[in-house]
Amino acid sequence: MQLISSQMIQYMERSSWIRKMFEEGIKLKKQFGEEAVHDFSLGNPDLPPPAAIKNALAELADQADQPFFLGYMPNFGYPDVRQRLAEEVSREQGVDVPADSLVITCGAAGALNSVFRAVLEPGDEVLAPAPYFVEYGFYTENHGATLTTVRSKPLTFELDLEAMDAAITPKTRIVLINSPNNPTGAVYSRQELEGLAAILTKHNQGRDKPIYILSDEPYRFLAFDGVEVPSVLPIYPYSIVCSSFSKNLSMAGERIGYALINPAIKGREMLMGAVIMSNRILGFVNAPAIAQKLLGKALGSSVDISIYDARRKAMAKVLDNAGIKYTMPRGAFYFFPEAPGGDDVAFCATLQEEKILAVPGTGFGYPGFFRLAFCVSEEVITRSADAFVRAMAKAS
Ligand SMILES: Cc1ncc(COP(=O)(O)O)c(C=O)c1O
Repeated sequence: MQLISSQMIQYMERSSWIRKMFEEGIKLKKQFGEEAVHDFSLGNPDLPPPAAIKNALAELADQADQPFFLGYMPNFGYPDVRQRLAEEVSREQGVDVPADSLVITCGAAGALNSVFRAVLEPGDEVLAPAPYFVEYGFYTENHGATLTTVRSKPLTFELDLEAMDAAITPKTRIVLINSPNNPTGAVYSRQELEGLAAILTKHNQGRDKPIYILSDEPYRFLAFDGVEVPSVLPIYPYSIVCSSFSKNLSMAGERIGYALINPAIKGREMLMGAVIMSNRILGFVNAPAIAQKLLGKALGSSVDISIYDARRKAMAKVLDNAGIKYTMPRGAFYFFPEAPGGDDVAFCATLQEEKILAVPGTGFGYPGFFRLAFCVSEEVITRSADAFVRAMAKAS
């Protein structure tokens, strides 16, 4: 008897490289002790949430005896939190975003799925630059569509606009970008976004459905050296932003984020209605009540990004010392260095022998490179230096 769908059997066999590394890490830590293992495999923010979250939790505890305190609310979220969110997002994006352009969702993941459900027909295509966040493939297929990818330019990981232009077909419905980027740390420039917008505007001619840019931005707050993270909203009208508070408030487990429909889209009310309906019928119903209430009080605060910056610099030193080639990440908390010898899976196995956990680029659709997440203490990074040197010696 086959208990599950054939597609799910395939998914489970493929598993994800990140999960695999996570499981390997548990085994290694059990065998050799936490201290001996350098685990750069997971993008799980390790900084504590900002003080505003702790204070808000204490305040909320006093209100927990009120009726409907944890009850249903409108599918788009609490109106007062949505209003506060609109003010914050307007500031971030440099665009006047009214509250009725926002749906509060179960993280960026919930936002992406709700938008996909609202606009994709079975057989449609979502185009994304590679390397890409591995869940994109699953999310696309959740809605009967397919993910097609175009390699970003090595080693800067800028968008290859010519190749993206060539990859657009009559079935392309969404171009999905992520900046600051997981796994490369790239931040797309205004010029790149304008170039992409020009290409899509050209392709939209004569179509009865527009191609959207869907900008996935959970790392927007985490840009280093004052680099600009331009908003796509004033650059391209058919744009949607999905984001979350998983990283900037270290609330990844609380499942809270949003979808923002560009207020410039003519007739956007219908699209908004569809995203709200998707959020409901995908079974999310609404984002968690407590997470929304926390957000209402903590919006505007953030974890200390100077800690991530110090780790980034420490990691760069470790890689330089080992002679590993990389492009300095300009945002997010990942390095995506070149695998010496070109075989990323083999090099990650060598790293593992030295008790370093990294994820092969193959898992992100970009072989020849590997990902290191620096959501670990600076001490772990510094302590890994000799192990990287030994791995490099073995690889050569
Ligand atoms: C690029 C990217 N998009 C979306 C997500 C999902 O974010 P959330 O946990 O807020 O749903 C992640 C999480 O790591 C991510 O890296």
